[in-house]
Amino acid sequence: MSDRRSRPADTGLVAALAERLASVLSPERGPYPLHAPDLGPEEAHAVADCVASGWVSTAGDRTHNFEAALAAATGAAHVVATASGTAALHAGLVAAGIGPGDEVLMPALNVVATANAVAHAGAVPHFVEVEETGLGVDVAALAQWLDTATVVRHGVRRNRVTGRPVRALVVMHCLGHPVDLDAAAALARDTGLILVRTPPRLSAARTGMARSAATGCSPPCPSTATR
Ligand SMILES: Cc1ncc(COP(=O)(O)O)c(C=O)c1O
Repeated sequence: MSDRRSRPADTGLVAALAERLASVLSPERGPYPLHAPDLGPEEAHAVADCVASGWVSTAGDRTHNFEAALAAATGAAHVVATASGTAALHAGLVAAGIGPGDEVLMPALNVVATANAVAHAGAVPHFVEVEETGLGVDVAALAQWLDTATVVRHGVRRNRVTGRPVRALVVMHCLGHPVDLDAAAALARDTGLILVRTPPRLSAARTGMARSAATGCSPPCPSTATR
């Protein structure tokens, strides 16, 4: 066994983390189902319909209607459905110009899809602090870090330690807690970062002025990139 595998877990730290998470997630409500599908006769009928029509892949009326409904629900000018949340994130990052050598900021409490999509685009995930009430990115701490740990040279913001361009911030609405998108968008605007959102598990939630998610979307999920 490697040293890493044989290292004992820090039970104190694990217990402290569990306690903090429980305090945010209201333990009296009991366990929170993750990825629990809510499928009934309507979905079964829709699947049978697809099979009968032969349109079972990336095109067809159902896909187009879904994209149109999502555009209407979110106010997005363009919507492209993908086969997975990871694919949506990857497409969003590449469409936003993220590529090899770029550094992409994301909350440390996250789904692995975010880091996978960034790595798949050739960029480097950089995990940042999470705030305790909503479990999303700590915008104030990030603002401070950007101020002290990055420098803008020739119009490019770089990490002083790694020297890499810090190009984007991916925010995630953790377990249905809406991130303060207005604050994240303002920080991105002020610091020249591209803002990418990955909002599954949040149905038409609103945070302040910003509509933050898509109706009826557990993964596969929409991701959007905005400057
Ligand atoms: C917030 C978020 N983004 C992206 C994904 C990735 O979705 P998929 O598993 O469909 O690739 C998930 C899945 O858990 C997710 O919760």
